[in-house]
Amino acid sequence: MEYIEVEGGHAIQGELAVQGSKNAALPMMAAALLTSQPVVLERCPQIEDVRVMCDLLRYVGAEVEQQGEQIRICAKRISNTRLPSELVAKMRSSIILMGPLLARTGKAGMCFPGGCVIGARPIDLHVTGLRRLGYSIAVEEGCVLAESPLQAGRALWQKVGGRPQCGAVSRIHLRFPSVGATENLLMAAALSQQEIVITGAAREPEVRQLGRMLQQMGAEIEGLGSERIRICGCETLQGTTCRVMSDRIAAGTYLIAGAVTGGDVLLHHVDPVDNFPVLQVLEEMGCHISCHEKQQWIHLRAPEMLKRISVVTRPHPGFPTDLQAMLMVALCKAGGVSSIEETVFEDRFRHVEALRRMGARITVQGSRATIRGGSRLKAADLWATDLRAGAAMVLAGLCSEGVSRVYNLEHVRRGYESMSRDLLALGAHIKECLD
Ligand code: EPZ
Repeated sequence: MEYIEVEGGHAIQGELAVQGSKNAALPMMAAALLTSQPVVLERCPQIEDVRVMCDLLRYVGAEVEQQGEQIRICAKRISNTRLPSELVAKMRSSIILMGPLLARTGKAGMCFPGGCVIGARPIDLHVTGLRRLGYSIAVEEGCVLAESPLQAGRALWQKVGGRPQCGAVSRIHLRFPSVGATENLLMAAALSQQEIVITGAAREPEVRQLGRMLQQMGAEIEGLGSERIRICGCETLQGTTCRVMSDRIAAGTYLIAGAVTGGDVLLHHVDPVDNFPVLQVLEEMGCHISCHEKQQWIHLRAPEMLKRISVVTRPHPGFPTDLQAMLMVALCKAGGVSSIEETVFEDRFRHVEALRRMGARITVQGSRATIRGGSRLKAADLWATDLRAGAAMVLAGLCSEGVSRVYNLEHVRRGYESMSRDLLALGAHIKECLD
């Protein structure tokens, strides 16, 4: 069995160029189905989830060529609209293929998506939103089958003189700013006959990047990055070339790695504005942060001792839930008593058990974890339970006494090109091994 071996007690120091963003690349790849012309994505992360998305796109009939960080997708024709369960089971993001498939062909079907087990993760917001757009959707026996009522491809589309009649406005309100539901509806709306206003929309930078890509493809969209997005759909969308933004969760992971080891890290290819929520928290914990928006770098120098803090995870621009597990490791090392309240996912404390085995003092009550800091963590064998919990295990190994082993790397590889390669570049004592 493969595992990452990491020796604790060494401050990480150095420079790193951060990979492209998983959570931006996946919806941008799905958006390629909205046009019969080629779409080229640059700086695409070379991770497992991107490989699964490539397989899904090929399955529906698109040509997909991957050369290093560049992916070229051309969906001249869509031959399949019912997605294979074995691929869908691997990745929650399969669900965001529903919108583009429906908009392009009038049909889409799949079983409930898999992915990280961090909560119930229902799809009701996707379903209600797509129904508001006029699609009929049946949810039965763990599958979703959707089609346009007139079942004639984009029969939903009626036009007058080449452009859509944007008279009728459809309003969709999301009771929670779901990232995936906002992305699905944005894509379905971009190729529809309607003017659509989504309120309660997600404001994540990855949603904004998808919206900008759809604008480049010809869609009319206003309000990206705000909770109210207006889309005026068009008849056809054209191909485009886009550069995937850098991964703010990977950047946050390596900044926190610097903080927990008393290190000094300079990250390149990062947008300080997108990373503001984590920079603010690390600064309050005593880290020295400098950054340059234009030159896209962030420099972190850790203090002698991290300070305690209370954090609540929230949708952007709140503190990202995807960095919650790594922050918890840092709070185990910080002085005093800290707390984390997880408000986005209801079952995202699976890493707590492993940290306790290493000697951490953490109590959990409902969605709130209280962390007594100043702990001397002892190295241990650790099993990743999901992508971000896995990354937190590696960070815990970096700041514990002795040599830890982290197993279940398939979780970590879903979102990180190579944590061992990147941390090695930052001077960590780390390697990948085989039992
Ligand atoms: C995206 O997941 C990210 N994944 C997640 O990152 C991230 O944790 C999450 O947004 C929140 O920021 C990708 O972008 C590929 P949501 P998504 O829909 O879209 C509830 C990682 O580690 N909800 O915003 O699945 C849901 O249960 C991953 O990279 C409904 O109730 O998240 C959750 O509690 C993990 N009904 C909350 O909303 C719905 O129909 C947020 O989910 C949809 C969601």
